[in-house]
Amino acid sequence: MRVIFLGPPGSGKGTQAKRLQQTQSIPQVSTGDLLRKAVREGTALGREAKGYMDAGGLVPDRLVIDLLLERIGESDCSHGFILDGFPRTVAQAEALEEALQARSKPIDAVVNFEIDPAKLVERLVGRRVCPQGHGEWHVQFNPPRSEGHCDVCGAALIQREDDHEDRIRARMEAYRKDTEPLIGYYRQRGLLHDVDALAAMEAVAGQIEAAVTGGH
Ligand code: AP5
Repeated sequence: MRVIFLGPPGSGKGTQAKRLQQTQSIPQVSTGDLLRKAVREGTALGREAKGYMDAGGLVPDRLVIDLLLERIGESDCSHGFILDGFPRTVAQAEALEEALQARSKPIDAVVNFEIDPAKLVERLVGRRVCPQGHGEWHVQFNPPRSEGHCDVCGAALIQREDDHEDRIRARMEAYRKDTEPLIGYYRQRGLLHDVDALAAMEAVAGQIEAAVTGGH
């Protein structure tokens, strides 16, 4: 099963991708996570991407497309994957379509996370992440077992650079301008499934399972 999660920053794509990867036994492929790993490791890609990410803008297509296509060519993606945060521009969607067509492995479904933008700020400013990349929590909606510490390694949780309010506004503007047109792109192809991303996490998970397994 090859699935795309499409939605604005903070709509719950990462949270739900982690759940779906367990129930469907296919990996979550997050370009945000891949880029943050490159930044942590100080690679040439990471050094170039960091400025765009910290400012809340999109990383240029030429950097992200190669990164993504290389990742989904790895063996654990041979039976499917969940794309979390890719594509984010029409150029990325076209490059993905072309690459998957060449492999005769088209996208099966696109899940569109619908949510009132006013709710996103609350979700993002309360998010806390493990500096080692072990996961993320929310101070109110999904607190860690020990306050302020990673459930996996115990490190002190931090706030992402781009989760400050001014950066969140820039990310939302990038979504509106560059990513929202993909809703029409995938609806036209008959692949889009809308979910109510404002619902509680369990309820959103149920809608997604139904959408990707043909339950609605
Ligand atoms: P990325 O990491 O992909 O960030 P994003 O799309 O902005 O998504 P987020 O991770 O912020 O939100 P999410 O939808 O995953 O929500 P989450 O589940 O965490 O990208 C970061 C940057 O990398 C971009 O700005 C860009 O610079 C660059 N980049 C990445 N991909 C790119 C691409 N393809 N092209 C160009 N540049 C790219 O949930 C948020 C919070 O809400 C959490 O705390 C969670 O606990 C809570 N929550 C989730 N669901 C619920 C619920 N149902 N109820 C209550 N709380 C909830």
